Parts: sequence; C-alpha cells; structure tokens
Amino acid sequence: MIIPDIREEFNGKVAVVTGGGSGIGRAIAQRYAAAGGKVVVVGRREEPLVETVRLITEAGGAANYISCDVRDAQGLAEAINGVVEREGRIDALVNNAAGNFIANGEDLSPNGWKAVIDIVLNGTFFATHAAAQHMLAAGTGSILNVIATYAWHGHPGTVHSAAAKGGIVAMTRTLAVEWAARGVRVNCIAPGPTETEGASAALWGNETARAKVLDGVPAGRFASPAEIAESASYLLSPRADYVTGEVMVVDGGQWLGKSVYTKEETKA
Ligand code: HXC
Repeated sequence: MIIPDIREEFNGKVAVVTGGGSGIGRAIAQRYAAAGGKVVVVGRREEPLVETVRLITEAGGAANYISCDVRDAQGLAEAINGVVEREGRIDALVNNAAGNFIANGEDLSPNGWKAVIDIVLNGTFFATHAAAQHMLAAGTGSILNVIATYAWHGHPGTVHSAAAKGGIVAMTRTLAVEWAARGVRVNCIAPGPTETEGASAALWGNETARAKVLDGVPAGRFASPAEIAESASYLLSPRADYVTGEVMVVDGGQWLGKSVYTKEETKA
C-alpha cells in the first residue's frame, strides 16, 4: 500500500461532523480541512457553526454548515442527503454531538435520561443510517464515533451518558462487521480530559477540580483538541483502511489508572 501524503490525504473528499461548532468536533473539522477535505459541520446553534466555517475558510480550507438537531432523524437524513446532492459524495461521518449533565441515577428524571440517550445514542444511529445509504452505494466510507472510556468502566453521575456511549460501542462493532466487506469502516475514538471551553467550564472549572482530574492522568496533562483530532484523522484516513470496529483510546493513560508505585518506590 502506498501511504498518501498526510498533508493532502483528504483532497477531494467530503466529511460531515456533528457537533462541529465547538471543542473536539471543531478541531476534527479543522484537521480534515487542513488535509484538503471539504467539511460540513452540523449542530443545533448556528453561531458556533458559522465560527467554525470562518476559521476553516480563513485558513484556506473548504467548509459549510447545516443547522440541525441530531435528535431529528428526518432533518438529519435531509441534511446528509443534501450534502451528497451538492457535493456528489460523503466520505466521512464523525458522530461527535453530545449532551450530558451530572445527576445521580436516583435523581435522573425519565426525560433527562431520554434527552441524553436521544442526542448521543439515537443521534449517532440516525446520522450513521443516513450516511451509510450513500457510503454503501459508493462502496467506501469511514464513520467515527466519539465516545468516552466510561462506556465500559461506567461513571457515577452520568448513567445516561455512560449507557449511551456503551450502546455506541456495541453499535460500532455490529455495523463494522455488517459493512466491512462493503468498504465502510466504523470506529470509535475515546478522548480523555481535553482542554475545550465547554469541558473546562463544566468539568474542571476551578484549580481544585483541575488538580483532581490531572492527578488521575498518568501523562500529567490535558489533551489539546488538536491532539484528539490528529488521532481522529488517522482513523478517518486511508492509513487506517484495515481498521474497523475498533476503539482508540486517546487519554494519556487515564483509564488504566496511575501506577500504584512511583518510579522511586520501585527502585530496589
Ligand atoms: C438534572 C437535568 C439537567 C441537570 C437537564 N435536565 N439538565 N436534570 N440535572 N443539570 C433534565 C431536565 O430537567 C429535563 O427533564 C430533561 O433533562 C431535558 O432537559 P432540557 O433542558 O429540556 O433538554 P434539552 O434542551 O434538550 O437539552 C439537552 C441537555 C443539554 C442534554 C439536557 O445539557 C444539552 O443539550 N447539552 C449539550 C451540550 C453538552 O451537554 N455537551 C456536553 C457533552 S460532553 P424534566 O424531567 O425536567 O422534563 C460529554 C463527554 C464528557 O458528553 C466526557 C468527560 C470526560
């Protein structure tokens, strides 16, 4: 296999990124466009999407946006069909849109459960279903689902999000096998604590919280959105053509936990 020049590996290709108006979604969109691809960012609020498009076009890339709530299956299908009508193709789909809040299981209302399951699990399936119609017909495509390691180890206070992300892992593995012989790959990326505006404000908004999070990360630092986007772009690219049904954890070793012993303590 000839490895393409990664500076141009998405030339002539088209990606749809849900939740592309901020954080990791925006960084993935920027990375895809920087390697020559055209990106369509999808999200509920227009303003951040416009900003992503501005950042990409000012950097010389190609981008557009569509306002759509991923809970709206029909709206999402129309958006994705529209991309294919205009651009003639869809090569990549990144299911990054998410919704989350902290609530213990016993305090979570059925509506709160449903809101997060609808955005995260159902939204991922709706977009995947719509994009797959075109990708399977073309015999090529790459779908990447953004999850979290608590999909398998759980996370007190976010049973709705953990259940949704766990469902996405099962969905990924199932569809990866269904579609492997038809040229469509489906993978997940599980970022660790990443320095985005949203996460920084909601999850580690003060120095005590930051120190506590960092204490659980063997790498001793947060990820930058660009670092997560770098791994995402690998999974989306032809360099990963034989990778499907996989979960790539990009978390500085967080979920494996810190070593019980420090280097000093293990010295004889
Ligand atoms: C308890 C809450 C709540 C809260 C909402 N609800 N927020 N319950 N605590 N903080 C309940 C409401 O009371 C309501 O139930 C139900 O959830 C729906 O609320 P709405 O506000 O009507 O929903 P909606 O406007 O659709 O908003 C969806 C949302 C919201 C998920 C609740 O937070 C959202 O859209 N967030 C998008 C951005 C986001 O959260 N991004 C974070 C992703 S980060 P009742 O019973 O009252 O009707 C992530 C990964 C983290 O997921 C990784 C960490 C390492």
